[in-house]
Amino acid sequence: MIDALQAEFGIPEAVTIADGINGLPKVALTHKSGSSAEVYLHGAHITSWKNTAGIEMLFVSRESNFAPGKPIRGGIPVCFPQFANQGPLPQHGIVRTSEWRLTQTNLLDNGTVTAELQIAESPETLAIWPHRFIIALRMLLDENTLMAAVQVANTDDAPFCFQIALHTYFGIEDIRQTSLHGFEGLTFIDSLRDKVQEVETRPAIRFAEETDRIYMNVPDSLRVNDLSVEKRNLPDVVVWNPWIAKSQKMPDFGDDEFLHMVCVETGCVVSPVELLPNNQWLGATAFSVREV
Ligand code: BG6
Repeated sequence: MIDALQAEFGIPEAVTIADGINGLPKVALTHKSGSSAEVYLHGAHITSWKNTAGIEMLFVSRESNFAPGKPIRGGIPVCFPQFANQGPLPQHGIVRTSEWRLTQTNLLDNGTVTAELQIAESPETLAIWPHRFIIALRMLLDENTLMAAVQVANTDDAPFCFQIALHTYFGIEDIRQTSLHGFEGLTFIDSLRDKVQEVETRPAIRFAEETDRIYMNVPDSLRVNDLSVEKRNLPDVVVWNPWIAKSQKMPDFGDDEFLHMVCVETGCVVSPVELLPNNQWLGATAFSVREV
C-alpha cells in the first residue's frame, strides 16, 4: 500500500508517503525552507509541524495509541460530527478513529506543499449516524505557516447537522508560562462547572489548574504564546488543559505531560451547522510562526 501511495502521490523533495508508528501510513510534507508537517491517514491526524529550525510546534503524547479504532493523543484530531460527549455518538465523533484516503498532493509554483485527505460514510458510520457525507482535510505548508482546512459535503438527500473542531494540541515549554491572547470580553461555557457561562476578563489567559472552556464567537485572530492563529468560519474556541489529576487518569497521556501542551481548538461547537443536500461547508485555521 505504501509503495502504491508513494508512486501515485509522492513528490521529490516535497511529499513522501511512509510507514509511521506501528506501520500506520503517514504523509510527510517538506517545504524548501526546511519547515515540515506530517499527517496520518488514520484519522487524517496531523501529528507534526516543525518550523524551519526543525522545532516541533505540536504536542503528541509519548503514551499515545497509534492503532486502528483508537484516537491519537495529540497533534490535530478532527472532531466530527459531534464534539466531545455532546450527543449520542462516540466522544468527538466518528472520523478521528477511521482510515481516510489520500486524494491529492501538490507542490505549487510558489513552493507551497499541499495534501488532501478524504473520508465518506461507511456501513459503520451509517449504522450510528445515518447520513451520507464527504469530509476533506486540506493541509497547506509554507515557510512559516501550516493551514488546515476542512470541507464537509452533504451527499445525502436530507439535511444534516454537525459540530466540528480542529482539536489542536500545541507543544509548549511550560503551561505555567503560557498565555493565550484574543479572548478578553468573550463569553465562555465552563465545562468543568456545570456549563456555567461567564465573561473572560483577562487580557491574557494563563493556567494554574484544569481548564476546559468553550469560548463563543471568538474573533478570527488569536495568539498562543508567539504563534498566531487565524481562523475562518469556526466561531468557537475550546481551551483545554487536563492539569494533574485528569492527566493521571488518562491512560494514553503521561502524568507530567500537561506541562507541555495546551489545546486551543477552533470549531463550530455551540451552534451546530445545518447543511442542506448537495451543499458544502468550509472552515479553516492557519497557524503561523514568526520568522526564525
Ligand atoms: C476537549 C474537551 O476538547 O477534549 C475535554 O473539551 C476532553 O472535555 C478533551 O477531555 C479530550 O478528549 P479525548 O476524548 O481526546 O480524551
